This record gives sequence, structure tokens and C-alpha cells, in this order.
Amino acid sequence: MILLLGGEKGGTGKSTVAVNLAVWLAQVGADVVLIDTDYQRTASNFIDRRNANSDLPRVHCVEKYGNVFDAARDLSKRYGEVIIDAGGRDSEELRTALASAHLLYCPLKASQPDIETSIHMNELVKLARALNPPLQSRLLIAMGPTNPVIHETDDAREILTELPEFVLSDVIIRDRKVYRDAMLEGRGVVEMNNQKAAAEITALAHEIYGDPT
Ligand SMILES: Nc1ncnc2c1ncn2[C@@H]1O[C@H](COP(=O)(O)OP(=O)(O)OP(=O)(O)O)[C@@H](O)[C@H]1O
Ligand SMILES: [Mg+2]
Repeated sequence: MILLLGGEKGGTGKSTVAVNLAVWLAQVGADVVLIDTDYQRTASNFIDRRNANSDLPRVHCVEKYGNVFDAARDLSKRYGEVIIDAGGRDSEELRTALASAHLLYCPLKASQPDIETSIHMNELVKLARALNPPLQSRLLIAMGPTNPVIHETDDAREILTELPEFVLSDVIIRDRKVYRDAMLEGRGVVEMNNQKAAAEITALAHEIYGDPT
């Protein structure tokens, strides 16, 4: 399956979720490749740090820019799982990745500015579905406050009514320092000593890939 982490807002946690899911897959023995389509190279830099440590299960990573459609479809024939990390803007990479993907996760904060940029994303998904009808799309609240507030579910419902092309994920990724620490170490949070973050990524992975146990 081709999973795309994409959206038009920068800094919402796309690369963080992409690399953490790739590590989770590597840890359960799946054959996974990351496609980094962002010139900022967040995912590629992570993989360089990770693969310098030979004790960790290796994750393959390919950098591809411009039209990524053929690369994504070709890699999906060679690997069990493909994860595309797209930069936080409307781009050729994002549009061609949307045309190739089976599933889009669009991380966002449950805040008004994020909701507003997602309205245009909703239009892009609608266009992408015209070319790629099986495309499924979910919104994921990422960097949610660790102190859950009552408004959050109301905010989420509000997002959904404004964005009919999306379904809201059941999982919330919360703002935890361990996500930043793990990124610097080239590790997934499932390889760190933080059960709450590991449980979030595991729940998200189960939502996407099912429970391998
Ligand atoms: N759940 C989280 N908890 C704490 N910090 C996080 C979390 N997710 C991401 N971050 C941090 O927030 C910043 C932005 O995250 P990330 O690079 O994953 O976002 P992005 O959506 O890929 O950004 P871009 O649009 O620039 O590609 C990074 O410093 C990252 O370490
Ligand atoms: Mg990124």
C-alpha cells in the first residue's frame, strides 16, 4: 500500500509521523520504503542518522522530486509498504503523490488556522479522487496538547463538517518531547523509553496496517 503523509500546512508533524510509521513497520518485520519528496530532507536526514547505527532495523529511503507518480507505483511493486513524506505546501510532489496513493493522512492541529488551510486540501483531495478514485483520506490531529481539553472533540467535529472529503482518525498524536528526541537519534518512539508515545504510534499503525499479533 502507498501511504502519503501530506498537507498544505508546514510543521504539522507529517515527517515525524512518516518516519515513526516506517520504523514501526521495520520493527514488525515489514518490507518498507520511505519516499522523501521534500527538499528539506527531513525524512532522509532521519534515515541517514538511523542507518549510521547498525543495531537498528534498516529502513530504506529514496529521494524523489517533481513528478513522483511513477516512482511511487514502481516502488509499491518492489516493497510491501511505501510511505511518502511530502512537504507542507501545494506542489507537484504533493499532487502527483495524491494521484499515486491509496491512503492519505493529513496531520493538523485542532486549531482554526490549520482548519482553514485544510479547506483547500479538501479541494485537492476531491481533484485527486477524479484521477485516483480509490484514494482514502483521513485527518489526524497531531501535536495535540497532552492535557486533553473538552473542546478538542468538538473542534474535530467542526473540522469534519467543513471537510467532507476526509474522515477523522480515531488516534490523536500528542505534543511530546520524545518525538523530537527520537528524531534526532534516528529512532522511532517505539524504540524509545516512552510508553505513551509508543502507544500512540502503535495505535495509528494498527488503524492503518491492522494488528500483526
Ligand atoms: N507529536 C510531536 N510532539 C512534539 N514535537 C513534534 C511532534 N511532531 C512533530 N514535532 C516537531 O515539530 C516540528 C515539525 O515536525 P515535522 O517536521 O514532522 O512537521 P512537517 O509537517 O513534516 O513539516 P514540513 O511541512 O516542514 O515538512 C519538528 O521540530 C518536530 O520534531
Ligand atoms: Mg516534513
